[in-house]
Amino acid sequence: MIRVLKGNLISAPRLGELHVAEGGCLVLEDGVIRGVFHKLPEQYAAAPVTDYGDRLILQSFADMHLHAPQYPMLGMGMDQPLLAWLNSYAFPTEARFSDPHYARIIYRRLAEELIANGTTRVCMFSSLHTEATWVLMEELENAGVTGYVGKVNMDRNGAPGLLQETTEESVRETIRWLEGCRFDHVKPILTPRFTPSCTDELMEKLGAIAAERGLYVQSHLSENRDEIAWVRRLHPDCSQYWETYDKYGLWKDHTVMAHCVHSDERERDAMRRAGVVAVHCPDSNVNICSGICPVRQMLREGVWVTLGSDIAGGDQLPMYRVIASAIRASKARNIMDNGRTEPLTVEEAYYLGTTSGHRFFGAREGFASGDRLHAIVVDDSDFPDSGYRLSLTQRFERALYLMDSCSIAAVWSDGRCVVEKL
Ligand code: GUN
Ligand code: FE
Repeated sequence: MIRVLKGNLISAPRLGELHVAEGGCLVLEDGVIRGVFHKLPEQYAAAPVTDYGDRLILQSFADMHLHAPQYPMLGMGMDQPLLAWLNSYAFPTEARFSDPHYARIIYRRLAEELIANGTTRVCMFSSLHTEATWVLMEELENAGVTGYVGKVNMDRNGAPGLLQETTEESVRETIRWLEGCRFDHVKPILTPRFTPSCTDELMEKLGAIAAERGLYVQSHLSENRDEIAWVRRLHPDCSQYWETYDKYGLWKDHTVMAHCVHSDERERDAMRRAGVVAVHCPDSNVNICSGICPVRQMLREGVWVTLGSDIAGGDQLPMYRVIASAIRASKARNIMDNGRTEPLTVEEAYYLGTTSGHRFFGAREGFASGDRLHAIVVDDSDFPDSGYRLSLTQRFERALYLMDSCSIAAVWSDGRCVVEKL
C-alpha cells in the first residue's frame, strides 16, 4: 500500500549536511521509503495523505549503547569513578534481574520511554540473566523498538554469589539464550561486559560462537584510566586494550565499542581498519569522571562514531539530550585543546545520533529510498515565541535542544507508525 506523509522533512544524508524539504512529501510503500519530494509527483496523486502540517519530520534516533538493567538507578549514585561505581551501584542493581517478574515491570517501562522519546533502534546490554534478557527483547519488540540486545557475559571480577557466572555457565547460558531468541525486530548480539569481566577461556569461546553463528559483538573500550591500567596487568602480552578483543576474534567489522575516551591514535587506527563502531557517551563520560572524548579527532581520522545514552552512567535516556550533550562535550574539548579542535555542529551531532547509528542496522543515509522508515514528528508550536519568523533550520536546532516526549507527536519504526498522538 502506498501512502504519503506531508510536513517539514529534515534528514542528515552526510556528516554536517542536512536535507530539508519544507512542506515536502515522503512517499511510503508498505513501510519502505520510495522518495522525498518537494512537490508530490503525479503518479502518487491518488495515494492517501497523512498531513503533519507545519510540524517537523525528523529521523528517529539510534541509541548505540545503554544498560537496560541500570534503568532503576537512573539519576543516582554518580559519586564514584567507573570501577568503584560498578561494584557499589551497577552490580547490585543488575543482580535484581534474576527475577523475571521484576524485569517485566522495569523493562516494559523502559521500552515505552524509549519509543516515546523517538529512539527506534538500540544496541543494548541486558544483565547476565537469560530469562530477563528474553523479557527485555519481548518488551522492546512489543513497544516498537528494534535492534540488538545482549545477554552479558561476566565470569570474573563481578559480584560473586550475586552477579557472576562460572565460565561453563556463561557459555551454556549464552547458547541457551541464543537458541531461544525468536523475535522479528530484536536480535541477539554477543556481549562480553569488558575485558576485566571475562577470563581468556570465556573470551576464546565467545569468539568461536561469534564466528560459528555470524554474530556481532559489543563491549567497552578505554573508558577510564584505571580500567586501562587494569587491562594491561591482566594481559601483559597485549600492548593496547583493543588487542585483548582482537586476540579472540572479537575485534571485527561492526563490533561495537562503547566510550573509547582514551583510545590513542594507534587504537583509533585499529578501529578504522577493522570497521569497529565507536559509541560516544558524553553524559556518562562526565558523570563518572571518565574524560572528554576527542570526537573531532576520531571523525577526522575516519573512525565510525555513533552516540549512546549509556544509562545509567548517563542520566539521560532521550537521544536528543545526548545529541545536545555531545555538542557540549565537544566544546569542553575545544576549550581544553585551546581551540585546536572544532566543536561539533548541530548538523553533525544530529548525524551521529541518527544516520551514523542507523547504518549499523543496514540502513543508508538520511531518508534513503529503499529503507524502512524510522522517523519522528515534532510539534514545536508550544516552544517559546522567538518574536520573529524562524527558518526551518533554526526550528530544527531549537527542537533538538528543547523537545521532550510531549513534543513528539508521532513515531515511525521499521515502517510502522508506533506512536500517534495527533
Ligand atoms: N564497563 C563495564 N561495565 C560497565 C558499565 O556497566 N557501565 C559503564 N559505563 N562502563 C562499564
Ligand atoms: Fe556502558
